[in-house]
Amino acid sequence: TELSQIRNFSIIAHIDHGKSTLADRLIQFTGGLTEREMSAQVLDNMDIEKERGITIKAQTVRLNYTAKDGVTYELNLMDTPGHVDFAYEVSRSLAACEGALLVVDAAQGVEAQTLANVYQSIEHDHEIVPVINKIDLPAAEPEKVKTEIEDIIGIDASDAVLTSAKSGIGIEEVLEAIVARIPPPTGERDAPLKAMLVDSWYDPYLGVVILVRVYDGVIKKGLNVKFMQGGTEHLVDRVGCMNPKRIDLPEIGPGEIGFITAQIKEVEQAKVGDTITTVKNGAPKALPGYKEVQSVVFCGLFPVDAADFEKLRESIGKLRLNDASFTYEMETSAALGFGFRCGFLGLLHLEIIQERLSREYDLDLITTAPSVVYRIQLSKSKTEEAATIELHNPADYPDPNRIEEIEEPWIKAVIYTPDEYLGPILKLCQDRRGIQKDLTYVGGRAQVTYELPLNEVVFDFYDRLKSISRGYASFDYEQIGLRPGDLVKMNILVNNEPVDALSMIVHRSVAEERGRGMCERLKDLIPRHLFKIPIQAAIGGKVIARETISAMRKDVTAKCYGGDITRKKKLLEKQKKGKARMREYGNVSIPQEAFIAALRMG
Ligand code: GTP
Repeated sequence: TELSQIRNFSIIAHIDHGKSTLADRLIQFTGGLTEREMSAQVLDNMDIEKERGITIKAQTVRLNYTAKDGVTYELNLMDTPGHVDFAYEVSRSLAACEGALLVVDAAQGVEAQTLANVYQSIEHDHEIVPVINKIDLPAAEPEKVKTEIEDIIGIDASDAVLTSAKSGIGIEEVLEAIVARIPPPTGERDAPLKAMLVDSWYDPYLGVVILVRVYDGVIKKGLNVKFMQGGTEHLVDRVGCMNPKRIDLPEIGPGEIGFITAQIKEVEQAKVGDTITTVKNGAPKALPGYKEVQSVVFCGLFPVDAADFEKLRESIGKLRLNDASFTYEMETSAALGFGFRCGFLGLLHLEIIQERLSREYDLDLITTAPSVVYRIQLSKSKTEEAATIELHNPADYPDPNRIEEIEEPWIKAVIYTPDEYLGPILKLCQDRRGIQKDLTYVGGRAQVTYELPLNEVVFDFYDRLKSISRGYASFDYEQIGLRPGDLVKMNILVNNEPVDALSMIVHRSVAEERGRGMCERLKDLIPRHLFKIPIQAAIGGKVIARETISAMRKDVTAKCYGGDITRKKKLLEKQKKGKARMREYGNVSIPQEAFIAALRMG
């Protein structure tokens, strides 16, 4: 295809503003889908993605659109993952495009998450076409949203396209705007091959499928290619695109986006951002922007039933086939037995994997307290040299006497919220050791910027934010590096035995409060036994908080008099059901739910 007839674009939208619906309409309009096929959303194809409304794996569809000027254009629509955890993947997808549609809900207006993506898009020199969607809603205020786009984002919105993706209004106008306003790509057909590996995924029939954007040269079947960062060589055995059905193509030329397969067995070999060139007469220099993905959040995953360990190993292996961005290694815990220490791009990524394991693979899991990666300077000891270590498992916490300094990762968070929830949000940030950097008002909303230690965010910050703002606040963050902190390891002891799954690294200033909260919650979560159970939080040998679960009397129901009988009965029934899902610590049975619930801060 001639460069002048190609347009590569992505869609930026806040969750629920109608990105998928619009994409489906564009596909339908250009003939890729029938009305019946429209009924199932095409781009978001994983269940969990659908439920949570997030895209994890970028899908790209090629639309052939004959515009009003009579020319048939090749439009490549790149679907980008919509969450901060996948920021690097997003940046590579954006790098593969020349423009973006900015979809904004006509009734909701601009949200913080949208902002972050728009700025990223602007950084990639994209031409941005504002699309104001859901104009069919009674609450739609397209003119107000236009002003908002201009005020907040600073781009001209006077010729924004007004659409109702749901009722199919404005679709042709969107396609015309793409052709007219988004610039065509550039590239040289005769230059050495330079293609970016935008994404990769595992297909049970095809093996690893690689999404590429060709800059210079041509990719064809039978070509020997080299991955410049990965250092491996492969024979291209299939070239194609999705429309959205898979179609084989003779080649992918300059400016185009499509997929290849090359007999690759593991996604790990196909690293996002890598440059693909030919083995013979290849490009001398790789494309800019490549980064190794690194895990940010770690936790242990253990089967509730030790007999499930092999099943867990197999399931994690399968998930990993399709997602090279999480890591795992075997871990043994005194209390939890055999399991895996896993690393994730962020908390949402962790939750997705955890959810898929329990849902798709039907595994009952215990998740240990998530941890970020700390950098610790160790002094010389009698037997060991001075060293710098990276710690991501509280169980590996070194001898405190040797610790010279601990550094922790910090983030810059931007929260966007209706004014009325600002007070409680500021308090939440303050409680989490946040440092306020900026506070501005736009319309009836506040945008507040905080620097926060990542370890204060990984537990339940996002949940808390959503609950205190009734879902209205949005949150976006980026990492801003390590800073020294007065951090200590806090152990939780149940019946005088440390529960390793609950030990965590905390800042000294909040240790006592966290410890107290944890003990209080555990007191409610652990059922009574025939003996008294002390629950303690301790730093080193020093107990900083303590609760006691009193012993159960022989006649359990006797306790119910005067109390809330139905509640107690329910509790008993629940305990009966939960029998199989208990862990034994010393002589104490701790229900599985307690582990997760205990980690939620009060
Ligand atoms: P994620 O994929 O979750 O990021 O969301 P999305 O931006 O893709 O939104 P999606 O297309 O799933 O739409 C979210 C909801 O808005 C769905 O219930 C749609 O039916 C609805 N919706 C989309 N477009 C319109 C529209 O033009 N008008 C109205 N009234 N509803 C719409």
